[in-house]
Amino acid sequence: MSSFDSKLYSYAVEEAKQAVILDRQGKYQQAINKYQRAAEILIQYMKYSKNEEMKKLCHKNSEDYINRAKILKSHVSGSQPRTVRSNSSPSSTAPKDDKVRSEGGELSQEEQEMVDMISGTIVTESPDIRWNDIAGLENCKQALREAIVLPMLKPELFTGKRKPWSGILLFGPPGCGKTLLAKAAATECKATFFSASSADLLSKWLGESEKLISILFKLARLRAPSLLFLDEIDSVATKRGSGSESSGERRVKTQLLSEIQGLKTSDKKRLLVLGATNRPWDIDDAMLSRFQKKVYVPLPDLAARSAIFMIETKGVEMDLDDDDFIELGVRSEGYSGRDISNACQEVIMMPVREMDMSGLFEDPNKEIKVRPINLNDFKKTLKKVKPMTSENSLQQYEEWAEEYGETT
Ligand SMILES: Nc1ncnc2c1ncn2[C@@H]1O[C@H](COP(=O)(O)OP(=O)(O)OP(=O)(O)O)[C@@H](O)[C@H]1O
Ligand SMILES: [Mg+2]
Repeated sequence: MSSFDSKLYSYAVEEAKQAVILDRQGKYQQAINKYQRAAEILIQYMKYSKNEEMKKLCHKNSEDYINRAKILKSHVSGSQPRTVRSNSSPSSTAPKDDKVRSEGGELSQEEQEMVDMISGTIVTESPDIRWNDIAGLENCKQALREAIVLPMLKPELFTGKRKPWSGILLFGPPGCGKTLLAKAAATECKATFFSASSADLLSKWLGESEKLISILFKLARLRAPSLLFLDEIDSVATKRGSGSESSGERRVKTQLLSEIQGLKTSDKKRLLVLGATNRPWDIDDAMLSRFQKKVYVPLPDLAARSAIFMIETKGVEMDLDDDDFIELGVRSEGYSGRDISNACQEVIMMPVREMDMSGLFEDPNKEIKVRPINLNDFKKTLKKVKPMTSENSLQQYEEWAEEYGETT
């Protein structure tokens, strides 16, 4: 086992152990989460491991965990009718009744069980992120407003030739706000938000990924207007026939393609798919063409970088003024929002670390006063924390954007 494999494996074992303990203690909901987590990690492990015996064992264990989680779930839900739980409907516009009826019909008991099973994979809570929480990216926000928010809020404007898009792809370097933008769009358009990591969808839930995808779309249709966010879409939509894919993976892709294709025809109730990727060039052409609008989410510009420094240090005591934040913006060229966020975390910890190193925390009676952070802390940290996006990959994004994307 490589050290990565063995870490994954022991992590799964640890989760499973905790699941069993919680299960015995009668803390079923927590146990369910832990069983699911353990199964998910084992499934990840199976992807990397080359040891067939171990894979078999892990497959068996993950099945056991999923089954146990299923049993606990039905136990927790008791005698309640097996319908979509109303808490999976975050928005004010989505139906709040327990039994879901619409043109698509209700979920069958089996489908409901699948929904319960995948509830750890799919997030439906309202994200509560607003456009204003995101620095810069004005063009992206505008594109999403036009493509998502307006058609959802004012469907009457989008009839006849003025058709709304049904598939939108956000692409760009890691850590630049794709997930944030998707969340803000969901909050602002008041649709039911479904968010699923494609890697999780692919994980071989007892080989039922295709079913899972079809149920996810069905549920999203039932809850329409819905926004279905498929993060890391490259992991499920890599170019077909590109070597390592299994027949199962191919089937999953085909299923996803046909679901996205089907969206255009059933446009009475809005269901919109928003994909995100930082490897757009890996995406299958057929899939790519389903996303009619492709929005480039670039590295933050100077003003956005300054603003991200401010957002990430809000509420922390500091000796910095507006000019200092501009200087920070200038000094952090090439950094992504996540790089800046990491640098800020580092800086915020600095005063505490200094105090710890000088032994100040050893005397429990001593009153502790943490010093404010200052520009110098940032300068030191920026020298250490380097941007993650290389020049080369940046160029690759720009070229791809030029060829396929919106020129925003
Ligand atoms: N424009 C921004 N405004 C404010 N914060 C930002 C911005 N961009 C990035 N961040 C910070 O970086 C973090 C990561 O952003 P996000 O998760 O949206 O990146 P992403 O593009 O989805 O990355 P990945 O491709 O790795 O999934 C955010 O949680 C936030 O702290
Ligand atoms: Mg993301």
